[in-house]
Amino acid sequence: MITLKSEADIACMRESGKLTKNVLDLLGKSIRIGMTTKELDKIAYDYIKSVGAIPSFLNYEGYPASTCISIDEMVVHGIPSDDIVIREGQIVSVDVGVIYNGWQGDAARTFMVGKVSPEKEKLVKVTEECFFKAIENLRSGSPLGDIGYAVQSHAEANGYGVVKALVGHGIGREMHEDPSVPNFGRKGTGIRLKSGMTIAIEPMINMGTWQVNFLNDGWGVVTRDGKPSAHYENTIAITDDGVEILTL
Ligand code: MF3
Ligand code: CO
Repeated sequence: MITLKSEADIACMRESGKLTKNVLDLLGKSIRIGMTTKELDKIAYDYIKSVGAIPSFLNYEGYPASTCISIDEMVVHGIPSDDIVIREGQIVSVDVGVIYNGWQGDAARTFMVGKVSPEKEKLVKVTEECFFKAIENLRSGSPLGDIGYAVQSHAEANGYGVVKALVGHGIGREMHEDPSVPNFGRKGTGIRLKSGMTIAIEPMINMGTWQVNFLNDGWGVVTRDGKPSAHYENTIAITDDGVEILTL
């Protein structure tokens, strides 16, 4: 069931979205070579608590941290650890969710650490572009399939693989609401978006094959060919005027 949000609801999500963005900005400024992913997670946790918000990932279906930190061939859901040290040349995807006054924000960025290969740099750039292509002409009345179509065509035009095992989602009082928002699809298909819908669009793009494996920690997702993957996510609202990005 899709829940439509009122103007007042969206005002609340603007606040949780802003806090979510603030966490990612802070992590982007804080990330250092030699730091562990657990240290980075702690910075997120401390900030979220300090503003009176709740880290939505922590204890979500038993998830043990406030962020997912996924390096290189890890696609998403990397569990922060004291044993994982951030190294020069890596691409580090950080996904974070915040609940404020009962409303959710969800967003992800891929950070480049020190000097990164041009191939990885391009992957990160194209993954961000996939998000912006997806929202370019989006408005009330757009078919949902246009989002996946836009992401998939841009990624594949660059020779990349689109992850299909995980998708974006509606978001509101719950982190995961209807509808599912795949990063692949056909133009003109699917339900029509409507003013008041709030969704998280999150391209997960692989340098090589689209296929992934699931780690036996119950969370981690890695590329099957071991090549790098990037993730970029924002929570958006469909409005009468088009799209408002709530986490940027
Ligand atoms: N942010 C992820 C998503 O977009 C969810 C993370 S799973 C969690 O769906 F368990 F860490 F919360
Ligand atoms: Co999400």
